[in-house]
Formats: sequence, structure tokens, C-alpha cells
Amino acid sequence: MADIGILGEISVAQLTKLEDIVSLCKRRGFIFQSSEIYGGLASCYDYGPLGAELKRNVRQAWWKAVVQMRDDVVGLDCSILMHPLVWKASGHADKFADLVTVCKKCNMRSRVDHLPDHPEEHTAHITVDAAMKDAKNLSKKVCPSCGTVGQFSEPMEFKLMFETQMGANIDDSMTVWLRPETAQGIFVNFINVLQSSRVKIPFGIAQTGKSFRNEVTTKAFIFRTREFEQAEIEFFCEPGTDVEWWEHWKKERFNWYLNLGIKKENLRLRDHDKDELAHYAKGCVDVEYKFPFGSGDWQELEGIANRTDYDLRQHQRGMRTVTTWHENGKNTLKVPLAAEAEDYQSGPLSYFDEEQKKRYIPYVIEPSAGIDRSTLAFLVDAYDEDEVNGEKRSVMRFHPALAPIKVAIFPLVKKDGMPEIAQEIYNKLKRHFACFYDEKGAVGRRYRRQDEAGTPFCLTIDGQTKEDGTVTVRERDSMVQTRINKENLLNYLRDKLEV
Ligand code: GAP
Repeated sequence: MADIGILGEISVAQLTKLEDIVSLCKRRGFIFQSSEIYGGLASCYDYGPLGAELKRNVRQAWWKAVVQMRDDVVGLDCSILMHPLVWKASGHADKFADLVTVCKKCNMRSRVDHLPDHPEEHTAHITVDAAMKDAKNLSKKVCPSCGTVGQFSEPMEFKLMFETQMGANIDDSMTVWLRPETAQGIFVNFINVLQSSRVKIPFGIAQTGKSFRNEVTTKAFIFRTREFEQAEIEFFCEPGTDVEWWEHWKKERFNWYLNLGIKKENLRLRDHDKDELAHYAKGCVDVEYKFPFGSGDWQELEGIANRTDYDLRQHQRGMRTVTTWHENGKNTLKVPLAAEAEDYQSGPLSYFDEEQKKRYIPYVIEPSAGIDRSTLAFLVDAYDEDEVNGEKRSVMRFHPALAPIKVAIFPLVKKDGMPEIAQEIYNKLKRHFACFYDEKGAVGRRYRRQDEAGTPFCLTIDGQTKEDGTVTVRERDSMVQTRINKENLLNYLRDKLEV
């Protein structure tokens, strides 16, 4: 299952196979295959009791860092279904596609950019025509399924947005899409937030939520799924200050992962090459994590892009398209996006700077992260094995802020008044942290189960508790046990857990 090395006191075991991660996640109730009793639904996953807590904690840690702790970012929660013109203006309706090809030998469909020598994430926002030119020569490409070389069909476009119909009556029903990113909900609410809150540029809007993409290549557990959760910030700033803010967000976001316990050697920033950049982007850097499975690949956790004023300008064009869209049977794909107004800098999505007495379209820095993807990174990075009394111990070394259960409470035995005291402590502490009460089995086995769940502290109520009011607090990583008076437990744990 794992490679184990010993670095002084700290072991560095790693889950090196994807199957082992999947199996651990299922066994301990972190993540299950969706609709498993029906044979499963490809590329869709459900979070079990521990996974739901872990994912919620990842989301909360992100929100705390980028909204709660900052005076210049506010939150938002947009709907998944949006006006179809949103996706016309953003470019997704016409261009959000992957190029796919079919192997003539085994009929397997592959993304052209996933065939060897094409490492890019996907072809989003590059015109399909441009990607098509790059993909012309597949004569040396290898089919990832059967290994045949150069036997591919002409590349074709595969639309990534899920389409559905909205409206009960045939007359007023229209095609809408499930959002492929949360970002556009922020752009279309820029003016609402500006007019309803006391924000001034520079400021950001943050939101988390589900996005949907009909991905061609999945098969990497929750790394790439068709339904996933994003955590995105659009940070609006004055043109000319954008590079400074981009640098600021690169540092902030990189440190967020480190502060939550990701090992430094597994994290890096990678600048996009010029030919990877969307035509409107001034710069983009990915925060990458070195996933230990497969060939030990560096993979994107988050992108931090300087998107210039592109999005707000596009939505000003979208707003100018509404009438023609109505006049043309609401056919989003057939209606061209209206041209940009000459005085676009003072358009409806512009900003008036009171101090400088000038109007402009703000530039945008976009740190765009994935909650599921970072949850997977936190999971694999936390996994470790060591030895206790000659026996192997599997332990999830989650940062306390992320640990699904913060404190487990055990009576040493199920008699002599110990369960009653343990229950009393449990009832008091669970008002403040996620706690777990367990009175079954040998205490050593109860510790092991909590180590595998990543619980930072276990409390044991024993004979001495009745005599002097102290309980044993056992720390997950060092396994050091300290006796603490039960009256001081709340403050002691609050301090240690930093929550
Ligand atoms: N608004 C910009 C945007 O959506 P992206 O690189 O396509 O950019 C941002 O997505 C983040 O969302 C990625 O870094 C990744 O963490 C997450 N993400 C994207 N597609 C995903 C998928 N199919 N499954 C899981 N996470 C995904």
C-alpha cells in the first residue's frame, strides 16, 4: 500500500496508488462512489460522514481566510442556473469545448490534449479553431487505452456544458446550462454588490458552490469530476495596480495550503507559458500539488489569473445583446454578441472612483480553487504510518482546523461511573467542537480508529478522574498523554485546536 521512510521521529508514509486512496476513503467513510448500489455513476462521488465534515472544514477554512479575516473581500452565493446570455458573453456557450478523437482500433474516445505531449488541462477559452490547428497531426500519438499509434479520427469538438430545459410550457421553455464555473455569477453581480455594500476598489467578491462540466477524461477519483465544488474570488482593482495584486494573491493562496499543513515539498507555483494563456489574460500561475500516485505528477489545485477587464467588458456587450436575443427566439447560439460600445469605459459595469474623479472598468485578479481537489490533496498529504508497540499505525495528520472530528471522548471501562462523567464532558464539549463518544472495545483500538479518522485529541476518563477530576488528553501525532482537570478542558482544547 505505502512507501515508508523514517525521518527522525517523523515517518513519511505515502499512499502511492490511487486504488489505496479510494479504498481508504470508502473504508473510513470519507468518500463513496455515487449511486453505488446501482453499479455507480461514473465520475460522481458522495462524501460520507467523515468526508462531509472534512470538505465542510476545507470550505470553511477558505472562507475564513479570504472573507472573514479580510476587510476587502465580501461573500456571495449565486444560483447555478443563470440567464443564457451570461454564457454567451463569457465565451462558454460558443467555445467551452474539448477536442476529442476516437481511436479507430478500440473506439476509445480521448481528449486530444491528454494524448502524450499535450499536458494542458483543457482547451477552455481557446477558440476551438485554434486548438484544432494544433491538434491536426495525431500520427505519432498513442492511444492510452490500447496503445495503437496514430490511428485516430479527425478531432472533433465536445461541448463541456450540461444543457437542460427551463420552464413548464413549450412556449416559454428555453435552453439553459448548469454553470461550468462560479466566477460568472460574481461578474454579473458586480454592480449589485457595489451598490449595496460599502465596498470601494480595490475589493473582492468570493463564493463557493457547485459547478458542472461534462469532462471527457475523468478516472482520477475526485480530482476531475463532472460535478464539483469551486471556491473563487474575483478581486477588482484599478488598471495599473493589477500586477501588484496578482503578486499579493499568489503569496496568499500558496501560503493558505502551507498553513493548513500541506508539506512544502509537495507544493509549487507554476507560471503558465505564453501559449497556455487565454488571449485576454495578462498572466496566470497555478498552485500545483505533487500527487503521490501514478507517476507522481504535479497537478493543478488552483489557478490565479490576471483577467484584465475582459469579463466586465464582455458582460457589457451581453447586456447590449438582450433585445436581439428576444427578437430571435432566445436562440443564444445563433445570436451574435453585440459589439462593444465606443465609450465602454463609462458603461453600466464601470466604476466611478470618487477620489480621482474618474470612471473605468476594473481589472480582475482571479484566484480560482477547487474544494474537492484540495480536499483530495489534504487527504493524501495527511496520510501517514508509524509503529506503536511493534504494530503499524495508520494516521491522518490533518491540521486541527480540517480534522473531521476534533475530540473523541472515551470512558476507560463501561462501569464505575466512568460513562456518566464521559457523557457529561461530551455533552459540554460538543457545543464547541465536532466530538465523538465511544465506549466500545479496548481503549487502544479506540485510539487507532480515531488516528485513522485524524482526530487530534482523545480524552480518557478513568479511575483517577473520580479522585482528582483530571482526564487523560492524548495527542494524535506525538501520542503524548497529559492529565488535565476536566474544568479546564474547554480552554485547553480551544487553545490547542486554534478554533
Ligand atoms: N473561473 C476559472 C476556472 O474555472 P479552472 O482552472 O477551469 O478555472 C478552477 O477551474 C479550479 O476548479 C481548478 O483549479 C480545480 O481545482 C477546479 N476544477 C476544475 N475542473 C474540475 C473538475 N472537473 N473536477 C474537480 N475540480 C475541478
